[in-house]
Amino acid sequence: MFELSSETRVTELQDESPAMMEALMSTGIFRSGDDASATIGDLCWNFGLNPAVMLNVLVRAQAKEAPSDVDVSELDGMTLTQVVENIETSHHAYLREALPLIGQLVGRVAQVHGDTDERLIKIRELMEKLSADLENHMRHEEEALFQIARDLDGGDAVRPTRCGDKIGGPIACMENEHEAARLELGELRKLTDNYAEPGHACNTYRRMLTELSRFDRDMVVHMHKEDKVLFPRAVDAQAALREAGQ
Ligand SMILES: [Fe+2]
Ligand SMILES: [Fe+2]
Repeated sequence: MFELSSETRVTELQDESPAMMEALMSTGIFRSGDDASATIGDLCWNFGLNPAVMLNVLVRAQAKEAPSDVDVSELDGMTLTQVVENIETSHHAYLREALPLIGQLVGRVAQVHGDTDERLIKIRELMEKLSADLENHMRHEEEALFQIARDLDGGDAVRPTRCGDKIGGPIACMENEHEAARLELGELRKLTDNYAEPGHACNTYRRMLTELSRFDRDMVVHMHKEDKVLFPRAVDAQAALREAGQ
């Protein structure tokens, strides 16, 4: 991801991010044929808009953009139930094991080095929040969305869950939470300089960075599987069931 500011030119968005370009065009302040060498700041001021508001819109659009290097072809040909099982056994199980370990590591490193580098305190706070949020998120998925997906797979009527029997509600909720998690992962990358080891890093510090980087990567793949494979397939299955009159 490249750094976005009010000095960023439209040509850079065109090159770097189709999602941000689409979001910009949807606001109407730039149309095809307009001068693409203009900066976001100039465009906003011409329309009497605060650039900070526009940058927020663009960052959120960028967060939704699929990472180009994630390969989820292992899910090709799987049933909805198998996709759910793959996510539970590969990613939910991983998180439940990794998050307590990461909590210990970031806690220890913050305690030892936090007085000379306050970013380590922020990393600990961020991971505490992410851990709690992710535990709730996974439980919510397992108790509602995944159960509905399994029922849809059987082609039977969906049994009511804590979020009702329609897949759309839980999907919208989970997509919002994924977006928040992506922004928090971006924050984590910034705070760790993309997991780069400082020269003075001790073993625990190095282990912390290795585990955080692994966590980041796993989250990217995990959310990609849900957003791009599970959710659209589940929506299609619910539509097919509706058409079949169930
Ligand atoms: Fe999940
Ligand atoms: Fe999720």
